[in-house]
Amino acid sequence: MSINLSETEAQTRIKELTSLLNKYNYHYYVLSESLIADSDFDKLMKELELLEKEFPLFADPNSPTRKVGGTISKEFKTVKHQYPMLSLGNTYSEEELLEFDNRIKKAIGHNFEYVAELKFDGLAISLNYQKGKLIRAVTRGDGVQGDDVTTNVKTINTIPHQLNPGSYPDEFEIRGEIFMHLKTFEKLNENYRKELEEKGYDEEEITERLYKNPRNFASGTLKLLDSSEVAKRPLDAFLYFLYANHKITDNHYDSLKLAASWGFQVSDHYRLCPTIQDVFRFIEEYERERKNLGYDIDGVVIKVNNYLQQEELGYTAKSPRWAIAYKFKTERVSTLLQFVSYQVGRTGAITPVANLNPVQLGGTTVKRASLYNADEILRLGLHEQDTVFVEKGGEIIPKIVGVDLEQRVNDAKAIEYITHCPECNSLLVRKEGDSLHYCPNELGCKPQLKGRIEHFTGRKAMNIDSLGAETISGLYDAGLIKNYGDLYDLNFNDLNNLELEIGEGDDLRKRSLKEKSAQNIIEGIEASKKVPFERLLFALGIRLVGETVARKLAEHFENIDNLMSATMEEISSIHEIGEKIAYQVKSYFSIHENISIIEKFKQKGLQLAVVHDSENIKTNKLNGKSFLVSGVFKRSREELKKIIERNGGRNVSSVSGKLDFLIAGDKMGPEKLKKANELNIKIISEEEFENLLNVSDN
Ligand code: IVH
Repeated sequence: MSINLSETEAQTRIKELTSLLNKYNYHYYVLSESLIADSDFDKLMKELELLEKEFPLFADPNSPTRKVGGTISKEFKTVKHQYPMLSLGNTYSEEELLEFDNRIKKAIGHNFEYVAELKFDGLAISLNYQKGKLIRAVTRGDGVQGDDVTTNVKTINTIPHQLNPGSYPDEFEIRGEIFMHLKTFEKLNENYRKELEEKGYDEEEITERLYKNPRNFASGTLKLLDSSEVAKRPLDAFLYFLYANHKITDNHYDSLKLAASWGFQVSDHYRLCPTIQDVFRFIEEYERERKNLGYDIDGVVIKVNNYLQQEELGYTAKSPRWAIAYKFKTERVSTLLQFVSYQVGRTGAITPVANLNPVQLGGTTVKRASLYNADEILRLGLHEQDTVFVEKGGEIIPKIVGVDLEQRVNDAKAIEYITHCPECNSLLVRKEGDSLHYCPNELGCKPQLKGRIEHFTGRKAMNIDSLGAETISGLYDAGLIKNYGDLYDLNFNDLNNLELEIGEGDDLRKRSLKEKSAQNIIEGIEASKKVPFERLLFALGIRLVGETVARKLAEHFENIDNLMSATMEEISSIHEIGEKIAYQVKSYFSIHENISIIEKFKQKGLQLAVVHDSENIKTNKLNGKSFLVSGVFKRSREELKKIIERNGGRNVSSVSGKLDFLIAGDKMGPEKLKKANELNIKIISEEEFENLLNVSDN
């Protein structure tokens, strides 16, 4: 690249790039989100490097080109690295890799070997071991000092707390990468989505909050302050670099073998490469194989094997001269846009979707890609029958990144955003400052109605788990339910042997409801009449009324009549409930149909008031006793903890000798159970806990 800039232009551009790159670094390392594709980031960094070289006067002493990248977060103890945690020079092209090879040859001659390894896409970690015991785990931070995340790292099964006896030095440091497997990521993110849906977030907010990729999720997890939460999100680690005061081997390759023999997880995918041609073969192989690994890699790392030769080559300000990262190009394919369809969510939010000619990308067939909102369509300048570029960059969901203008059909029409709801034909609305269009027909638009019934029956709402989304949709289409109030009019004979149409489009099927299912549904609906008021309030699906807000409203107003007659001021005066929520509550109760549903709930005996049952009564039955609640229960963990407090008990968050009771639910962490057993702690079930409360006061 040659530079054709005047001094002033260069100075401006250097400033611009410095501030941009600092911003991207901050988001990446501190907020765990990528604002830009890796390759674009690297391009900007290269541009800045070049400019600084050409115009050194304008280079900022704290330029991102001289820093490793990260920043220190506030909540963890900051620890200085014994050996700075450097980054690697990187390249996307074979030519540059050949140049790297030539530089090495020039410096140390031809008698050397490389080790080629995978470049894991996670977070770097430095582990300190003393006498075989894990003492400290520190993140990269700014390369000089990082966060002490030892407690969190100890939840990772593949990182040994204690090594088996072996030939390791008394003290050493080993570095590696913490990451999350793709399967784990997909499952946890899906659960997270459900959680957000149940909390009442709309699609746009959900998309914003969901983790974009496993790296992002792993990084968010490692920064959690509560390590019991970390333990619920399984992370994994590969170790790839050993530092020791006493040299125990003379080369990197042997050190990896040794580390594996001491009990560290070292990836199987590394290879001794006598020439750069062997390195190219390794790269080609893993460009093909990466989709089968089950975790993300973003390239290959190439290291000179021999330690003495590494020393001879030395370091630049921020990276070793004896190693380089070859980064894979983001896979990009082009395909034809067939048409744009529009989905309507529970809240009426419209999401445009590009339907594409099926195309292979990163091991999966891509047929659809979200277009997010109207602005995105404008940004892309999308026209009918356009050939579009699709990428699966750092994100799991494929993304349309551009249009191949050379392929544009003559006189092609620009894609025009719909003005009316594709389901009910209502005129769409878009409020100022909102990026989404909404269908305002809350009471007559099918997907919104079905979605609200689904929300109502959800686990954290009325918990009618015998009614899945398909059955609800089938019952709706059969004309048996029009809203969640109608559920309480259903009887066994309505449902038994009922033929339902489920699925849609090509996937439309008929299914008849068996006797057992019909019975389960009726029983589930009946049982839901006992669901406490606060959960019923959440189940109504009032916008912005998630679980917490519902609980606060229930506690404050105690029954539905009080809430319905409350003024905006009264509602918004409750701690942490503002005008926006108050407005939504008032709007909900201003709709005639909603009032009729509430009337029906009254007749059918649902819980429309807070019940001051035994659980709400304060006693001192648990005085002086400590409890740890772990796992999944009938009640939410929060409810259990509240009951403990109300009855004089104390909640703690970890197992120790002082713990009196561990209340164990389903799927509790095996580590906690093991520790509690070792310490002879009383382990009780939810039922046994209830019995504790029910015994007489004496
Ligand atoms: S070696 C001085 N090996 O890539 C040695 N790094 O851009 C430096 N990474 O900070 C690290 N896989 O987070 C090394 N097999 C591997 C790696 C690897 C991923 C990461 C690491 C490093 C970054 C450099």
